[in-house]
Order: sequence, then structure tokens, then C-alpha cells
Amino acid sequence: MSPAAAEARRAALLDWFADRGRDLPWRRTRDPWAILVSELMLQQTQVPRVLPRFEAFLRRWPSPAACAAAPLADIVTAWAGLGYNRRAVNLHRCAQAVVDHHDGALPDDLAALLALPGIGPYTARAVLAFAFDRDDVGVLDTNAARVLARWEGRSLKPKEAQAAADAAAAPGAGWAWNQAMLDLGATRCRPRTPDCEDCPVRPWCGWGDAGRPSPDPAVGSAGVSGRQAAFEGSDRQGRGRLVDALRLGPVRAADVARVAGWPDDPERAGRVAASLVADGLAIADEVGTLRLPGTSRPHAS
Ligand code: ADE
Repeated sequence: MSPAAAEARRAALLDWFADRGRDLPWRRTRDPWAILVSELMLQQTQVPRVLPRFEAFLRRWPSPAACAAAPLADIVTAWAGLGYNRRAVNLHRCAQAVVDHHDGALPDDLAALLALPGIGPYTARAVLAFAFDRDDVGVLDTNAARVLARWEGRSLKPKEAQAAADAAAAPGAGWAWNQAMLDLGATRCRPRTPDCEDCPVRPWCGWGDAGRPSPDPAVGSAGVSGRQAAFEGSDRQGRGRLVDALRLGPVRAADVARVAGWPDDPERAGRVAASLVADGLAIADEVGTLRLPGTSRPHAS
């Protein structure tokens, strides 16, 4: 694509976003901690489910220091309803590392962000773009990755996708550009039913130009997630049930299989309980009673 065409595409997308971008609470702040919280919540959870949780979380823990000082059990409890509870552990560990190594303020440097627990390439770039307005990074979530593969008209390898995302970013508009890419992917350039008729960058899309041939270049391209595995009957469902019970109090070893939803499969329940302990989401005492980390054991009477 010529530099002039790339520039025209940038301008068209930024105009569209200025006009039609979604107004979301994490778009009204540039506070790096708030951005980090929102991006971790949004990673595997839909916007409507994050909306009521985001502001409540920040009211309670407005800074890394506040989060780091809280018992992990409180963070995991506040995560209820968001799923993928490991993210709560990661956020707590990250807050502690920010306090220990960065005086309580998230760094504005890619390598330093990537060195923090729970922060991967996506989250690090999201913090840079959305808190620090950096225009040399492209935030590559599944939406942006799908858009880029279709623009290029071919499936991209992991390094190519990140390089394409970084190169596409609009000079001087790091925040707006990256938010716009997420909105374009979420509302127009959808996985199975792209709305090309109402797409602001349709004149500059390789796949669109070619008449949208099969296969869709986004399918299997780097960063584009496939369908989520079924939740019903999965280990994840048993993990979720156990963590839901632990939010209310300890779970005795004898109750683990029933609570996990597999009364006839204690072996599976035990395996899943062990995975919670390994992930830092639960601790087990010497008789195998599970509790959330940071909750005290009842005193012996
Ligand atoms: N998904 C991930 N990050 C997002 C953001 N900043 N806005 C909307 N959806 C998102």
C-alpha cells in the first residue's frame, strides 16, 4: 500500500471513530492503573459484563498500592462474574511488583511492562497506547488481528501481525487509533458477518477489494482466536464452581468433588483443585481443606 493510501485509511478510521466510537468508562481516563484493570477485565470477558465491575473495582482499589495491600481473597471475590479468575491473581501480583520495583506507578516502557507478572504483549501495548498515548505501538487483540489480516488479504504469522499492527498506528494519535481498531473489529469487521457496506475503511481493504474470497484470511491468522471451547462440562466450569464456593468460605477435601459438580469423579475434581493451588487461587492445609489465599484459618478453640 502506498504511503498516501495508508494515510487516507488512517484519516478515514480516525474520523469514523471520532464520530461513532463507543463511549466506555475506561475511555474517559488516562490513569495507567485504571487502564490496566480495564484491559485485564476485557481480555476474556465481553464489554457488557465488564461495565458494572470496572468502576466498582477502582473505587475500592484506586491504585496499585491499594490493590497490593489487600488480601488476594478480596480481589478474587471482587472478580466474581468475570470468569478466568487467574487474572485476579495476576493483577494482584502485578500490583505488588509495581509497588516493589516502580514506586507504585506503572512504567511507560514496553520492556519494563512486559517484565511485570500477568502483562503480555497485548496488555503492555494497551497500557502504552491508552494511558501514555504512545503512537509507536499497535494493540493486537483478536479484533485488531482480524482487521489487519483482512487489510493485508492474507493470514499473518505472529511476528508479521505485531509488526503490521505497530506499523499501522497513526502518528500523533496512539490512543484514538488503537481504540478505533478495537471498535472497527468489534462492530464492523466481525468474525462471521463483517459489515463491509458500513465499513469506513472499505476502499483500503485487500480482502474486500478481492471480493471477499474464501477462506477468510483472518481465520487462522496470528492473534485471531477461534471459537471459545465449550464451557459446559469443561474443567473450567469445575474450577469456576470451586472458586465460587471458596468466595463464601473454605471447602473441605471431602466436599471438593460435589462442589466442583463431579460427585462421581473425585479424581477429576482433585486434579482441578490442585490446578487452583498451583495457580495461586487457593491454598490447601494439611488435611486438604481449600481456602482463598489471604483468608485466615479459623482459630482452634
Ligand atoms: N477490548 C479490549 N480493550 C478494549 C477497549 N479499550 N475498548 C473496548 N473494548 C476493548
